[in-house]
Amino acid sequence: MPVNRRLGVLISGRGSNLQALIDAIATGRLDASIAVVISNRNDAAGLERARAAGIESIVLSHRDFGSRDEYDRALARELRTRGVGLVCLAGFMRLVGTELIEAFPSRILNIHPSLLPAFPGLDAQKQAIDHGVKVSGVTVHLVTAELDGGPIVIQRPVQVMPGDTAESLAERILEEEHRAYPEAVQMILKGGWRLDGRRFVAARAFFITL
Ligand code: GRF
Repeated sequence: MPVNRRLGVLISGRGSNLQALIDAIATGRLDASIAVVISNRNDAAGLERARAAGIESIVLSHRDFGSRDEYDRALARELRTRGVGLVCLAGFMRLVGTELIEAFPSRILNIHPSLLPAFPGLDAQKQAIDHGVKVSGVTVHLVTAELDGGPIVIQRPVQVMPGDTAESLAERILEEEHRAYPEAVQMILKGGWRLDGRRFVAARAFFITL
């Protein structure tokens, strides 16, 4: 079954992945619309990107709520009010709790700058450099209660070059993120996929039409 194509994008900062989604929609690579951008920080640069694209943006600070559950309920309310069908976390620096996950079951995506399950959590690119891996990359996954642990939708490898720093690696991974996120969103919206335990099984038709 196809998924409702109204996106809600959650950010905390720069918003370059938000921009990648905006651009993919504008150029027709992604058949969706962004109903709302929500930031938990009022200084997130991504808010300006939303405004420039004429997308409604709101700031919902976690500091104004007594608990994670209350905050997540407020997020769910704002998203539902706007008819959002798919929630895209794009550099949203908050753990998502069960209140939001249960409001959007298998309808929350996250992008992470490593090949999960390697290097979950913060500073994934630095973790990769410190560990000395030769390949890292990008993962887009469905969000579950386990941090960076949900079913994997798309992964893209990025070679670690001799002399790479966390910053230079992060830059190349980011380029790949900007390609992978719109593709993963398109795949989810198209439907036909299923979950087999923790495995995401893509619709065959998706690959045929790529
Ligand atoms: C990206 O590296 C993303 O993978 C991670 O946080 C960063 C957000 O960057 N979850 P931006 O705000 O989208 O530019």
